[in-house]
This record gives sequence, C-alpha cells and structure tokens, in this order.
Amino acid sequence: MSEPLNVSRREFLSTTAAAGAGALTGTLAVPRGVQAAAWAGGSDSIRVGIVGCGGRGTGAAVQALRADAATQLVAMGDVFQERVDSSLKAIGDELEDDAARKVQASADRRFVGFDSYKRVIDSEIDVVLLTGYPAFRPAHLRYAVEAKKHVFLEKPVAVDGPGIRSVIESARLAKANNTGCLTGFCWRFAPGMREAFAHIHGGGIGDVVSVHTTYHTGTLTRRPRRPEWSDLEFQFRNWWHFTWLGGDHIVEQAVHSVDRLAWAMNDKVPARVTCLGGRAARSGPEHGDVFDHFAAVYEYDDGRRCFHTCRQIDSCPSDNSDYVYGSRGWTLVNGWGPTYISKDSRGETIWKFTGGQNDAGRMYQNEHDELMASIRAGEPINDTERGAHSTLMAIMARMAAYTGQTVSWEQAMNSTQSLVPEPMTWDTPAPPVEVPVPGRTRFF
Ligand SMILES: NC(=O)c1ccc[n+]([C@@H]2O[C@H](COP(=O)([O-])OP(=O)(O)OC[C@H]3O[C@@H](n4cnc5c(N)ncnc54)[C@H](O)[C@@H]3O)[C@@H](O)[C@H]2O)c1
Repeated sequence: MSEPLNVSRREFLSTTAAAGAGALTGTLAVPRGVQAAAWAGGSDSIRVGIVGCGGRGTGAAVQALRADAATQLVAMGDVFQERVDSSLKAIGDELEDDAARKVQASADRRFVGFDSYKRVIDSEIDVVLLTGYPAFRPAHLRYAVEAKKHVFLEKPVAVDGPGIRSVIESARLAKANNTGCLTGFCWRFAPGMREAFAHIHGGGIGDVVSVHTTYHTGTLTRRPRRPEWSDLEFQFRNWWHFTWLGGDHIVEQAVHSVDRLAWAMNDKVPARVTCLGGRAARSGPEHGDVFDHFAAVYEYDDGRRCFHTCRQIDSCPSDNSDYVYGSRGWTLVNGWGPTYISKDSRGETIWKFTGGQNDAGRMYQNEHDELMASIRAGEPINDTERGAHSTLMAIMARMAAYTGQTVSWEQAMNSTQSLVPEPMTWDTPAPPVEVPVPGRTRFF
C-alpha cells in the first residue's frame, strides 16, 4: 500500500511507459559468447507469473512486460478473485495494442487461494513477481527458489526475525543456483539517486559521519468492516494496519528510507538501535495494532550514530528526504523533486545533480530492465541478502519501539518471535490485536 508520496500509481505507470519504450523495439541483446537460452515452455520468451495482484503487482507486471520484447505474462495468483480480475484488466489496458501478444494468462492459469503461489510457480514460468503481503514473502520466496525460478521480490522482504533468516537462506540458495533475486528497493535503481550516492561515496562531502532519513506522511486508507467478512478477512483488507501482515509502517513503508540510510553507510550493519514510538492519532479497529510514529537511533560499532524518523499522521508536514552529513559538508537527497544537492558548512553549494527529472518514475522500470537483461546475460542480479539486512534494520527499530528496550543486531537476527500463523487458511483464527506498550511488551 506504500504508494510513493506525490506520485500516483497511474502516473508512474504512464511515466514509465516512456522509459520502457526502448525495450519494446527488440529483444535485449545477448552478449557475444552467451547462447540464446530456451526458456520455460521451450521458446525464447521469458514467461512471467505474478503472486499478489494488487497495486504493486499490477505495476510490476507492466514493467516486467516492457523490460524485454519477449516477456509474456502467463500466470497470476491472489487470495482474492477480484484482485486477479482487476489486475488482468489493468495490465491489458496499460499495454494497449501489445496486450494480445504479451498477456497470455489464460483462465486455467489464474489461481485463487493460499496455495495460488505454488500453482503460479509450477506453471512453466521463468520469473515470478512476489508482490503479496510482506508476511508471506519468505514462504513464497523459498518455494520459488527451490523451483529454480528467477524472482522479483517486493520490499519489505519479511516482517520478523525468522522470516529474515529464511529469506537470507533462500537468497544464498538462489546464488548457488545462479537464479536472480532482485529486491524492490527501487530507489537503488533511480538514476539521479545513484549519482547522488556515487558523489557521497566518492568523498564529495568527505567521510560520512551521520545520516538522518525521514518518511513523514499522512495516514493510510481504512476499510470499514463488512458483515460478510471474517476477522481474518477484515485484517487482510486492512493489512497495512496489522503488524503481523505488513510489519508496521516503519517496515512496510519507511523501509525505503531505512534502506537509503544503510546505502549512505555503505551497507554496514548497525550494532544496535534504540527507538521511541507510539500511537498519537490512531484508534479504532481498522487501525489494528500499528504505531503512527517512530524515531530510531542506530549506533554503529565505530561510534557513529544515524537517525530515522517516520510518521503517518494527517495534517502534519510531510518530508521524505535523506540528510547525509560528511566531514566536509552535507547532502540533501530527495528523489521526488528530484533534489540532490551538497553544501559546505557555510551553506555554499558544492555539488548539484543537474540530470533529468522524474527519477521516481524511471526507477520502477529500471528494476525490471536490469533484472531481465541480467537474466538474458546469464548473470542474474541477486541483491536479496542486502535487502534482508535493510528490512531487518527496520524490524529491529520496531522491536525496540514496541518493547522500549535497546535491541542489538544479533538479538533481532536471532529473534524467535514468529508473527505469521502457519498453516494459513481462511479458517485460521485471526491473530489477537494488542497495541504494544513500551516497557511492558516483551522481546523474544
Ligand atoms: N517499492 C515500492 O515503492 C512499493 C510500492 C507499493 C507497494 N509496495 C509493496 O508491495 C507489496 C504489495 O503492496 P500493494 O500496495 O500492491 O498492496 P495491495 O493490497 O494492493 O496488493 C497486495 C495483493 O496481494 C494479495 N495477497 C496477499 N497475500 C497473498 C498470498 N498469500 N497469496 C496470494 N496473494 C496474496 C492481496 O490479496 C492483494 O491483492 C507490499 O509489500 C508493499 O510494501 C512497494
């Protein structure tokens, strides 16, 4: 549900059309010496399946289909029939004249239910887009990797410590199998953002001494209870308000900013985190058990401290920026403008990104262009262990906020707290909803 600030999904579907247009003119070149592979189904088409046909799954499918002239959507799965139907229609509408050739998910390859992920993955596909709720990502990924499929894995990659450990194991297995696994930390694929971080890592502001990233925005949609819904379905329909399903907003949405904090720190993992958080403006059943604000202090073993703050409260100022402080100046990183600018301690501009606009629009297409090209080249991208680390940074801050305790990297990584009930069916009792109370809620 974490639509980016200021850019509607419709807008970025249309803006990415331009970015992907070049890819439609021909199959991506296969480098000299690499044989054109026969893909699943015995053709040279890359066959794609989606698991989780919501807003992001639909957008990712369009981007995957535009990433290579010979990709085809052949299988779709969701727990709700109407999401499969609406996604199929939206993808067809978006692809217009290309839809008949590219959208081949016939009725017998459109699956509904909790086992739909297995049925999609077993449908002679090459690449699966895993875009359901974060709670189920580790299990979906494990099945895909064991079946030797390439994966596009949306963020966050899990909601708890056991999920993170499972994702890291799957990422390593994918590496051993030489299958791709690209994690949806899309800002890492934004051209201007890449230039800004290259400038920072190239010493443009000296040594990085601290980072503060923000994700301050309004609250999220609520879907009032309907009489025909069970408790579990009510939680599914409002998934981003239930920690077991979405991880809470620091994990589900602000993890993008936590990931950029990690990027600025060269992906060094923090030693520990202390985090303040609570609910000031959320109440009522649709708001589930999530907090509405967090303020995290990450400590590194070299003594540096970095900060992340996020808020989902209406009628308060928004900010989704990164402030990276170096020994010779600081950089403002804001992909939405985009604004990438460095100043020295007197406020003089020492560097400025002067490239194109619409960085946010291009990043979604770039992820898929680069994944498909890497698959064609026989050197598939696998950045998922790093994606798991960024997700764990957000999870450990949530754990620290909920419990009121400082949480170390090892404690978070080894946590045995599994939030996701197994097995999951529509008869599984909905997990109890209790808003955590710092100082009282236990860590384990
Ligand atoms: N990278 C980004 O900028 C970005 C933007 C938006 C969303 N996201 C991420 O994408 C994911 C989906 O978000 P969304 O906004 O599309 O939500 P959504 O509710 O629109 O779609 C999720 C879909 O997954 C389905 N689903 C859930 N569990 C499933 C399961 N076990 N098996 C099959 N289908 C299942 C749901 O029924 C729903 O149709 C989330 O993790 C979210 O954080 C990322």
